[in-house]
Amino acid sequence: MAQWTSAVGAAQLARQLNSQSRPSGPGVRKPPAYRALADGVRLLVLEGRVPVAARLPAERELAVALAVSRTTVAAAYEALRAEGFLESRRGAGSWTAVPAGNPLPARGLEPLPPESLGSVIDLGTAALPAPEPWLTRAVQGALEELPPYAHTHGDYPAGLPALRQMLADRYTARGIPTMPEQIMVTTGAMGAMDAICHLFAGRGERIAVESPSYANILQLMREAGARLVPVAMAEGLTGWDLPRWRQVLRDAAPRLAYVVADFHNPTGALADDDQRRALVEAARSAGTVLVADETMTELHLDDDYAMPRPVCSFDPAGSTVLTVGSASKAFWAGMRIGWVRAAPEVIRSLVAARAYADLGTPVLEQLAINWLMNTGGWEQAVSVRRTQARENRDALVAAVRRELPDWEFDVPDGGLTLWVRTGGLSGSRIAAVGERVGVRVPSGPRFGVDGAFEGYVRLPFTVGGPVAEEAAVRLAAAARLVESGAGSGSETPRTSVA
Ligand SMILES: Cc1ncc(COP(=O)(O)O)c(C=O)c1O
Repeated sequence: MAQWTSAVGAAQLARQLNSQSRPSGPGVRKPPAYRALADGVRLLVLEGRVPVAARLPAERELAVALAVSRTTVAAAYEALRAEGFLESRRGAGSWTAVPAGNPLPARGLEPLPPESLGSVIDLGTAALPAPEPWLTRAVQGALEELPPYAHTHGDYPAGLPALRQMLADRYTARGIPTMPEQIMVTTGAMGAMDAICHLFAGRGERIAVESPSYANILQLMREAGARLVPVAMAEGLTGWDLPRWRQVLRDAAPRLAYVVADFHNPTGALADDDQRRALVEAARSAGTVLVADETMTELHLDDDYAMPRPVCSFDPAGSTVLTVGSASKAFWAGMRIGWVRAAPEVIRSLVAARAYADLGTPVLEQLAINWLMNTGGWEQAVSVRRTQARENRDALVAAVRRELPDWEFDVPDGGLTLWVRTGGLSGSRIAAVGERVGVRVPSGPRFGVDGAFEGYVRLPFTVGGPVAEEAAVRLAAAARLVESGAGSGSETPRTSVA
C-alpha cells in the first residue's frame, strides 16, 4: 500500500495503547519501553483496532500523549518499520501496514488422534462425537442407496445431484430460493474455503478477516499466499463494528472478506440483521466477495431460538455473497461433508478450481447426509447435538467461574466455544503448561492474524460433567504455575490443537 487512507490521532492511539492488557506476573520479563510501544502498536494493527493504512501521529505528538521521550517513539517506529508494520515517506508521514508473507510463526490447529491422548483432557478440538444412533442409521440408509452409483465412475466434482437438490431445497425453505446449480458439495467447509481461496485469493491478494477468527481458515489463507487484513471484533457478543468494516473494505479493497456471522469461532458472537445487511452492502460497493461461513449456524443451543436472517438473504443471487456450510458441527466432523452456495457461474468456476485438489467428495458420505435430511433424522440428530453442547457449555462455564474467577468471558447462545481472557496471563504459556498438567487448550494467538490475543485461550464445549470440572481444575493448576514463573517455555508442535 503506497499511502495512508485514514488517520489515528495521538490521544486516541494513547488511549488504545493504555487500555491494552499485557501479560504480567513474576515469570514475564518487562521489555524496554520502545519495544513495549512497538509491540502495542503491532497488536493494535494485528487485532484490527488500528486499521491498515492508517496514518500514525508524528513522533513528537505521540511522545507527549504517552508521556514518554521522543527517542522512545522514534525507536518504536523504527522497529515497526523494520518488521513491516509501518511505512513512511518523507513529507507524508508514517502509516500502518501488514507485512507481506509471514513474519512471525503462525499455526492452525492440528487435531491429535484421540487414541494418542491418554489421560489428557482434550480441549483442542471444537467438535463433538457422533450423535448416535443417527450416524449408524445414516450409513445403513446410504448403503441401501449405493447400488445405482456403483455402476458410475463415482467422481462428482460438484456433488451428487440428489444432495445438491436437497441442500438447494433447504435454502429455499429458509426463504432464499436456490437451484441445485447454485450448490457445490465439498470435503468439509475446509474444502469449500480451499476452492474459494484458489479461485479468488491467489498470491498477494488481500482477504479481510475478523480478528480473532477461526485458526485453520486463517492458516489456509496464509498458505494460499493471501495477505490477511484483520478487522477487530468489537467487545461483546454482537461484535461486528460496521464503521470499521466499511472503512477496511473501502480502503484496502480486499478481493475477499471472510465472516462467521453465526456463533463466530472463537468468540461465539452472533451478528444481527442490520449488521448482516450492512456487511453485504459494504462488500458490494467495495467489489469484495463476502464469504459467510455457516458452519455453526444450526448450533443455537435452544431448539426454538430466533435466528437472524441468513447473510445470503441480502444477496440471494449469490454473486457478492458465497455461503459455506458444513455437516461437521451440526452432525459429525468425521463425515467431512461441506458445501458452497453461490451464483451458478461462480459454482462452475469453483468446481473447476476444486477438481485438481480432490476430484469430489466420497459418495457414501454424501448419501448418508442426504438420507438424514430426507428422513428428518437430521433435525433429530441436531437436536441431540444441541442438548449435548448446551449441557457441556453450562458445566464448563460453572467450573471455570469457580476455579478461575479472574478469567473473563461472555456466554454465547450458540456455537461451540468460549473465548476466555486469562486474567493477564500468557495464553501460550497456559497452553504449554496445560500440556504438562494434563489439559490441551489452544492459545489465543492461533486465532489472531500474527501474534495477537496473547492474553486469551479458547475453550470448546466438548466436555461436560466431572470432566469439565477436572479440566477447570487442571487449567487453574496451569495458571498457578504460569503465575509463579514455573511455567516458562512455549507451545511445542506436540501441543498443536484443533
Ligand atoms: C467456523 C468454522 N469453519 C470451518 C470449520 C471446519 O469445518 P469442516 O470440518 O467442515 O471442514 C470449522 C471447524 O471448527 C469452523 O469452526
